Amino acid sequence: MALIYCSFTPLVVLRLLTVVIAVGSVLKAACTTTASDEAPVSRIAFGSCANQSAPQPIWDAIIKFNPQVFIWLGDNIYGDIKRPFSLFGKQRTIGPWKNVPRFAPSSEHEMQSKYVEAKTNPGYSRLKDKAKVIGTWDDHDYGLNDAGKEFGGKITNQRLLLDFLDEPQDSPRRKQAGVYTSYTYGPVGRQIKVILLDTRYHRDLMSSDGSILGTSQWTWLEKELKGPASALTIIGSSIQVISNLSATTGPLFYLESWGRFPKERSRLFQLISDRQPNFGVIEINWDAVPVSLKFEVRDLNGLPVTGVNISLLELKAKTVGSIADTKAGKDQKHCSLEVALPWLVRYRLAILFFCALAGPFAFQSVPNAAKDERCGTHAE
Ligand SMILES: *[C@@H]1O[C@H](CO)[C@@H](O)[C@H](O)[C@H]1NC(C)=O
Ligand SMILES: *[C@@H]1O[C@H](CO)[C@@H](O)[C@H](O)[C@H]1NC(C)=O
Ligand SMILES: *[C@@H]1O[C@H](CO)[C@@H](O)[C@H](O)[C@H]1NC(C)=O
Repeated sequence: MALIYCSFTPLVVLRLLTVVIAVGSVLKAACTTTASDEAPVSRIAFGSCANQSAPQPIWDAIIKFNPQVFIWLGDNIYGDIKRPFSLFGKQRTIGPWKNVPRFAPSSEHEMQSKYVEAKTNPGYSRLKDKAKVIGTWDDHDYGLNDAGKEFGGKITNQRLLLDFLDEPQDSPRRKQAGVYTSYTYGPVGRQIKVILLDTRYHRDLMSSDGSILGTSQWTWLEKELKGPASALTIIGSSIQVISNLSATTGPLFYLESWGRFPKERSRLFQLISDRQPNFGVIEINWDAVPVSLKFEVRDLNGLPVTGVNISLLELKAKTVGSIADTKAGKDQKHCSLEVALPWLVRYRLAILFFCALAGPFAFQSVPNAAKDERCGTHAE
């Protein structure tokens, strides 16, 4: 998917969006929305981190892809105010004499006008005419950088987001605490369920190892996942689910992610795992030219569940992301996606094994960040 709009700082890129995809019986899904006779959905685009004040040429490419559904995964606008780094002067945002925070919330009026700017972008308007647009939020449209449940502007900003998304006035989503929701598309047998989480409204303090989703959203999510099966279930989270980058970047800086709420993350993995035992295999074909390596996950019967063939050359590739390319297609240069969660969640052990094996040989001169990207090919 080359459809992610994220052209900003590495930080933004790192904390990009997360899409979790589960196929078939992996997930049971409830049909809360009316199952309809509509055509099957086969083209979905998603994006995030869209700066309403900057040019957004990406919409042309998205429209060209002709998605039936477009999913906003958060930072749909940059609603809060970002002050420049400043060591001296009246407003000092860093250093020992820091006297103002780097980020500040906007007024309701300012938020509103930013949404107007985003919504009237000609490219986005065209997309809206052609595709169903749905979405959740992240911190900057929630209202404040890295904010959680403590943020006071959340009720107002929930209304503003839902206005932006054209949520009907009588929608229950306008009455609940948080913007989480789900949709089911397509005819029976080919239904796609999209679950959008709210990782802001109920989130405890970052260092608390408390909750991300909060009690009411967990109850809802469990119900959503326990109903009748859909062919495919997609879960969107505005913060990274699998990545554990903070473990390598801390204590210098910490990234927001599920990885920082280990209990909460285990609960999610538990909920979406099918609890089938699997094992990983690595088969090396020394006779092939170039030498190739088959990396597979197999089930109880020894049959492959999923896998990938990699040439040994690729493991040594100079270009970061080459493994990602073989598996996930054309990732945009600065983006990496979490598109293969089932593979990763169910087969985490196998993946770790893969990294451990490949590490010393393949990543020798690759800097840390790149290393992470490759080990977690589908995890960033
Ligand atoms: C958004 O774009 C404007 C104009 O290019 C820029 O001044 C601003 O810093 C950007 N905001 C963010 C959060 O990147
Ligand atoms: C993630 O990092 C934390 C330390 O920040 C560590 O305790 C934990 O075991 C790591 N989890 C995984 C799955 O690597
Ligand atoms: C890997 O290659 C083998 C033999 O060429 C093929 O049977 C298998 O399906 C391939 N596996 C994947 C995951 O592409």
